[in-house]
Amino acid sequence: DMGGHDTYMHKEISEQADAVDRVLRGRIDDRFSTVHLGGLNLDAREARGVRRIKILGCGTSYHAGLIGAGLIESLARIPADAEPASEFRYRNPVVDPDTLYIAVSQSGETYDVLAAVQELKRKGARVLGVVNVVGSAIAREADGGVYVHAGPEVCVVSTKCFTNTVVAFALLALHLGRIRDLSVSDGKRIIEGLRKLPEQIAEILRTEDRIKEVAEAYAGAQSMMFIGRVRGYPVALEASLKLKEISYIHAEAYPASELKHGPLALIEPALPTVAIVPDDDLLEKNRAALEEIKARSGRILAVAHREQEKADHTLVVPKNEPELDPILMGIPLQLLAYHTALAMGRDIDKPRNLAKSVTVE
Ligand code: M6R
Repeated sequence: DMGGHDTYMHKEISEQADAVDRVLRGRIDDRFSTVHLGGLNLDAREARGVRRIKILGCGTSYHAGLIGAGLIESLARIPADAEPASEFRYRNPVVDPDTLYIAVSQSGETYDVLAAVQELKRKGARVLGVVNVVGSAIAREADGGVYVHAGPEVCVVSTKCFTNTVVAFALLALHLGRIRDLSVSDGKRIIEGLRKLPEQIAEILRTEDRIKEVAEAYAGAQSMMFIGRVRGYPVALEASLKLKEISYIHAEAYPASELKHGPLALIEPALPTVAIVPDDDLLEKNRAALEEIKARSGRILAVAHREQEKADHTLVVPKNEPELDPILMGIPLQLLAYHTALAMGRDIDKPRNLAKSVTVE
């Protein structure tokens, strides 16, 4: 049942304010400015003993894991990184007893992720899951974890589950942070930010007409570049994946700082750039990248907290706490991919060559 929408993708994008509400529900503890995660199965002593966090997933879940690693580093000050689960499995990784491993999956059935979890468990590692489907194989195999509560996701391309997974990581990072060095006031600040998300998501979704107009202006492109810096880079990666999956436009994502180390050679009027430009401490650096692109006559679509003078178009999103901004910046880009694919007449819910869950090697 598409509930009045033409596609499941559109329905699922539109459900995100409620979905985020669900992942937050019952978990916030205002008294101690922290969150409770019932199924985590990691007590305070164990949480304090974690020296490193390694996040494993595929596709969109890997991208959510990259943002999750950033959240964990900034809020909990634990070194963290994310890696595609298949790469991890095949490189015979060093499995370290002080590292906490986290497997991320919407379906909970992706073979590469499941196999990585099984290999880790065999070697005695502690593995948590950040999973959407309750009781799925990865959820069962993990020692504990956080359910994402996005609800059923039918469209092959992930949207609401991506958003909820990142919010689930914010909860985990806050929880670990408050056990370790995050102050009460920072805890409060993040909680207030989390509570604002559903309304801010609804606000972005109300700008769909404008996003559609912008998408139609770029729909003829052969190829597109996506750039972001630090927290913005995984947002760029995910937006570029979304666009390729459903529009079949070739797209690449680069850290903004890497432009001058090669990809700047591609910039010309026919290759538009989508730039993630939050109003944070990196704003001036990001503006400099926009200038470099403009100097080569590249067209620019900025996703920002206010109009960007160097950009041809800006999609303005509401501001939250800097740590949570990537969650909001991803949403207009889901709609951008959607309306680009629609303008090109693509079969959005069933992109060619793809399956919802990849349960084979
Ligand atoms: O169910 P999972 O989250 O484990 O799936 C992982 C990927 O296969 C999935 O995210 C894929 O990249 C989607 N098509 C993304 O839109």
